[in-house]
Amino acid sequence: MINSVNKRKGIILAGGVGSRLTPLTLATSKQLLPIYDKPMIYYPLTTLMMSGVKEILIICRKDHLESFKKLIGDGNNWGLSIEYACQKNPRGIAEAFLIAEEFLGDSPCVLILGDNLFYGNNLISQLQNANTNEGATIFVYPVSDPSRYGIVNFNKNKKAINIEEKPKNPSSNFAVTGIYFFDNNVINFAKELKPSSRGELEITDINQKYLDKDNLNIQFLGRGMAWLDTGTFDALQEAGSFIRTIEKRQGLKVGCPEEIAWRSGLINDIQLRKLAKKEKNEEYSKYLNNLLLNF
Ligand code: G1P
Repeated sequence: MINSVNKRKGIILAGGVGSRLTPLTLATSKQLLPIYDKPMIYYPLTTLMMSGVKEILIICRKDHLESFKKLIGDGNNWGLSIEYACQKNPRGIAEAFLIAEEFLGDSPCVLILGDNLFYGNNLISQLQNANTNEGATIFVYPVSDPSRYGIVNFNKNKKAINIEEKPKNPSSNFAVTGIYFFDNNVINFAKELKPSSRGELEITDINQKYLDKDNLNIQFLGRGMAWLDTGTFDALQEAGSFIRTIEKRQGLKVGCPEEIAWRSGLINDIQLRKLAKKEKNEEYSKYLNNLLLNF
């Protein structure tokens, strides 16, 4: 059972141009593109649900707002409260905290990038552990192409010494993944930021501030976990194949909001049955109904 009593609020950043995916992204948001049998945003959304968050702000481009609302609505069906805000220009990940200031009030938060896909056996416990931490928590994951990410450098005693954004000559291969837990100080830290050389308010600069204050927890996602990127045609295809492989083999869905809501106790059996009844896709409907028969 997932512990859902929590005042931490969630943010999904689903803005951006998706320029590496045109023409797919000319008329829609990248985060609405399919990853096998679901829209991309279902995966980060359910990751937030697994961390125990119930109040979520989706930040997207203005011209995509109606599509997101049509897909996800106010979250009530899944026992969530979902609000929306627009990002006018992509000014960097850390801008999310400025846009979300009013939504957050004095709550701690967790931000997830709308194109990040996490999968693995002990993901829930890792997320829930982060949820109870003070300060900030980031997740790092070994990658073969560290120059593309924020990278944590460690000293001989495995203590983090700094975080570099897209280093030319990386001295570690531990990438900072796109899910970040912060206390409420993050809003003030975001206000202090200056745009980087690529013109963005960098999430790496926020993480560095927490590290400087000795208030940054770093959790390692092991090699048995999957953290997938979906930013290029190949990555998109590979993520879809990965989900398809797991789902076909187990007969269990990855990133199914109705299932996670039910397993978390956000909705009860009657509500799940109602959702199954409303579902037009017969296979999906059957899947939801079968959850009630199995354990
Ligand atoms: C961003 C962050 C980077 C992080 C990555 C995770 O990169 O700047 O630190 O490792 O997300 O996906 P970007 O999407 O801007 O290339």
